[in-house]
Amino acid sequence: MIPTPHIEVKENDVIAKTVLMPGDPLRAKFIADEFLEDVVHFNSVRNVFGYTGTYKGRRISVMASGMGMPSIGIYSYELYKFYNVENIIRIGSCGAYTKDLNLYDVILAKDVWSESTFAKVQSGYDDSVIEGSDELNQKLIDIAKSLDIPLHIDRVHSSDVFYRENFEAYKDIYKNHGCVAVEMEAFALFHNAKVLGKKAACLLTVSDNLETHELTTSEERQLAFTNMMKIALELAE
Ligand code: HPA
Repeated sequence: MIPTPHIEVKENDVIAKTVLMPGDPLRAKFIADEFLEDVVHFNSVRNVFGYTGTYKGRRISVMASGMGMPSIGIYSYELYKFYNVENIIRIGSCGAYTKDLNLYDVILAKDVWSESTFAKVQSGYDDSVIEGSDELNQKLIDIAKSLDIPLHIDRVHSSDVFYRENFEAYKDIYKNHGCVAVEMEAFALFHNAKVLGKKAACLLTVSDNLETHELTTSEERQLAFTNMMKIALELAE
């Protein structure tokens, strides 16, 4: 069933087996422009840009997920199910729930907790925690070590809500569920990988801290996220 409703590729092998997924389409473009060679621009539906190219001679794709679980749920499902994609690595930003994390620290989300109904509705999956792929995580840990980039390996919170009336609620989520940071996509991505027999991982860079109220600008973010991108790009095959 290709092309799919949200990805306009008609041939099977245009998208690499491994796809990096930033939330922002312009970040996908930035990665293709800065790091990839022999780039093919394969998707523009809804301006959710997707590119395939080579990194150090090895093939990899990068495509945006948009924001939130419904959005990454659609794109990751189509990539896994209809375009033979095996590995999706989300590379995103997160808000830290603890003073122990500094702006620009990189987190590998070994698992993710969520109160979202995404997994229950999609497949009947009834747990509130889902793990990323051990195999991808081990590779990412080894790569980070070889690049000398420190990695926090932790549980994060996938939230359906960015603006929460009860701002302080994060304190209980940190205390009761052990989530060190919040983002809005990993739970749906990990779930789709699980039900489709594929692999997913999630690297996050701290863009703000809910405890200290430190904040990065969107310009700073674009550049500072290169550490996380360099780790993920080494998964090119
Ligand atoms: N909340 C949810 N998602 C985020 C945040 C946040 O504070 N920062 C970066 N992604």
